[in-house]
Amino acid sequence: MSKPKVFVARRIPEKGLGLVRDFCDADIWQDEMPPPRDDLLARIQGVEGLLSLLTDRIDSALMEVAPNLRVISNMAVGVDNVDVAAASARKIPVGNTPGVLTDATADMTFALMMAAARRIVEGEKYVREGKWKTWSPQLLLGADFVGATWGIIGFGRIGQAVAKRAQGFAMRMIYHDPAAAPLFGATPTTLDDLLRTSDFISIHVPLTPETHHMIGSEALSRMKPNAIVVNTSRGPVVDSEALYIALKSNKIFAAALDVTEPEPMPADHPLLELQNCLVVPHLGSASKWTRDQMALIAAQNLIAGLKGERLPYCANPDVYN
Ligand code: DGY
Repeated sequence: MSKPKVFVARRIPEKGLGLVRDFCDADIWQDEMPPPRDDLLARIQGVEGLLSLLTDRIDSALMEVAPNLRVISNMAVGVDNVDVAAASARKIPVGNTPGVLTDATADMTFALMMAAARRIVEGEKYVREGKWKTWSPQLLLGADFVGATWGIIGFGRIGQAVAKRAQGFAMRMIYHDPAAAPLFGATPTTLDDLLRTSDFISIHVPLTPETHHMIGSEALSRMKPNAIVVNTSRGPVVDSEALYIALKSNKIFAAALDVTEPEPMPADHPLLELQNCLVVPHLGSASKWTRDQMALIAAQNLIAGLKGERLPYCANPDVYN
């Protein structure tokens, strides 16, 4: 029996790729860079399955050229790069990879918050530039964690994992998420109260039309002057231009971004001129175990869809109604 044809949009970890190769006739994009739009459109024709990454825009036009497409498996928990409604309209299940990246992303949130609060990157640069001449009582002073208030925007799996870690730091924890119950000592509050009273603010909401630029000039204007903002969700949740103005004018103390708008952020972006803005290249889930698990789940979702079985993790379960 011939194997189902699939397109895999990048070389994912072998843990998942091996499984895909065993079960499918796999066309695997070999380049480091994502397939350009024209290549994606060409390579997807005739496939029954697609394993995509968050860098691939999977929209209705793309589904149109692939009439045999039966499953889209996105190797990410976020599916904002996929037109899920268009997939549902075609009864195509969309897989994602929740759960396995919760801890890695919460760890990265903490790493960024600590680095920004204690000015780690500035300090490292200071040493490398040969500026370290003596211990100095006023050098690169940062923020204290004990007794501070950490406001968590979005209290799903990752937001909760952040609260769990923050418990050990004797902080006051508040969150804004109308859908979530209190956990790990964090108490619910309004977005306005969170913005006005938090020393540390971390963002853990999916990108939707409602959360696009949720942190813009208005939200930033309500924050305390010592506030530090960390974003490990999706770049466009924060308005980059408004953030630049707030950081440049010291309206807030610092920001640390794992995700950016635009993404990737070009080296000449104004935010990168600022000492109080720390940027890393979307590394939230970048631990060996986590990426292996994401690849494995993406492969399992893909294969389940090809077999006509329910996907283990499906972002549009309405397709099964
Ligand atoms: C996801 O899975 O959505 C993450 O952003 C990947 O790091």
